[in-house]
Amino acid sequence: MKKIIITGVTGQDGSNMVRYLLNNTEHIIYGTVRRLSVTNHENIKDIKDERFKLINLDITDQQSIINNVKSIMPDYIINFAAQSFVGESWNTPIQTFTTNTLSVMYFLESIKEYCPTCRFYSAGSSEEFGDVEYVPQDIKHPCRPRSPYGASKCSARHLVKVYRESYNLFAIHCILFNHEGIRRGKEFVTRKITSNIARIKKEIDNGEKVTPFELGNIYAKRDWSDSEDFVEAVWLMLNMKEPREYVLSSNETHTVKEFVELSCQSAGLKYQWFETINELDTKLIVNGEVIMKISKKFYRPAEVDLLYGDSTETRQILNWKPKVSFKDLVYKMVMNDIKLLDNYNPNDNNLYNIENTL
Ligand code: GDD
Repeated sequence: MKKIIITGVTGQDGSNMVRYLLNNTEHIIYGTVRRLSVTNHENIKDIKDERFKLINLDITDQQSIINNVKSIMPDYIINFAAQSFVGESWNTPIQTFTTNTLSVMYFLESIKEYCPTCRFYSAGSSEEFGDVEYVPQDIKHPCRPRSPYGASKCSARHLVKVYRESYNLFAIHCILFNHEGIRRGKEFVTRKITSNIARIKKEIDNGEKVTPFELGNIYAKRDWSDSEDFVEAVWLMLNMKEPREYVLSSNETHTVKEFVELSCQSAGLKYQWFETINELDTKLIVNGEVIMKISKKFYRPAEVDLLYGDSTETRQILNWKPKVSFKDLVYKMVMNDIKLLDNYNPNDNNLYNIENTL
């Protein structure tokens, strides 16, 4: 039985990784949370297993990492915690670097000093490719970030390489293209779309007034997969003989506009686009009513226009491939958001014991 520290367990990927490991291994999992006066355990509230323990750990505090690494002596550290919202990184560039880059250095230093056999996973991002030079992008594509977020992940990647090569650590950095699912935060475009389409579907069905929602650049292209598929691949990487860099992607690209269209189709809404030469005029119409408009507010200072991954090599090395298609992913997210509206309970508050709370 091994000991695994997973950071970011209240987020999408961390909570999916906890589920995957509880279902597929015998290991003990230490999920890290930051001390907050209000907890947000929505994504893990249904996990009831003695092998899953929550601990306080602030990834921006080196001493907090050292204390936990020394006391647990983990076999694996899977670092999913991040300031993961690209759009926010222009407002909080320093916090983005502290959270996404310095924390990686703290973990690597702690592993080097106190448990050098611990295997470390660093979550990279296709935002590292940024202003892309070619399609599809594989591991050889250069770092050309377009945001403080992308730059923070490039720096983390370089640090992981340096520590792997200098100290012979089993430290891997995997570049993940976009990955979504039912536990996705609503600030990301996919869940923003599916939660709004679900709400609008209800409003229409109930004969209520429809309140439109707003999006930014719907012509951006992304390579979207299911987070639940990716966590399986991450675990395989961590158990390979040698550490290295990887790419995970669906090997397809779709516009945000296509995501909106598939969401409407999944909800059974018949839609029409209103478009002029000015993309800010674009509107989405259902039953003669506008349900979505474009707002400049959601455009970014610098956009990554096209992400389209090539994970052929990773698939061969790991003998892995994703199970969920783009269409099935959108359908699953829309259906889940419709179901959540049906079952909404404002008093539903499930709290955890935190092991190392003073
Ligand atoms: N969030 C958001 N909100 N994005 C919008 C909106 C909107 O209203 N309208 C259009 N978009 C466009 C963004 O400009 C971007 O081109 C695209 O939708 C996807 O945006 P996000 O869902 O916020 O994700 P992201 O691609 O910026 O970043 C995600 O994927 C990265 C991997 O490529 C995040 O999960 C990152 O943490 C991850 O590293």
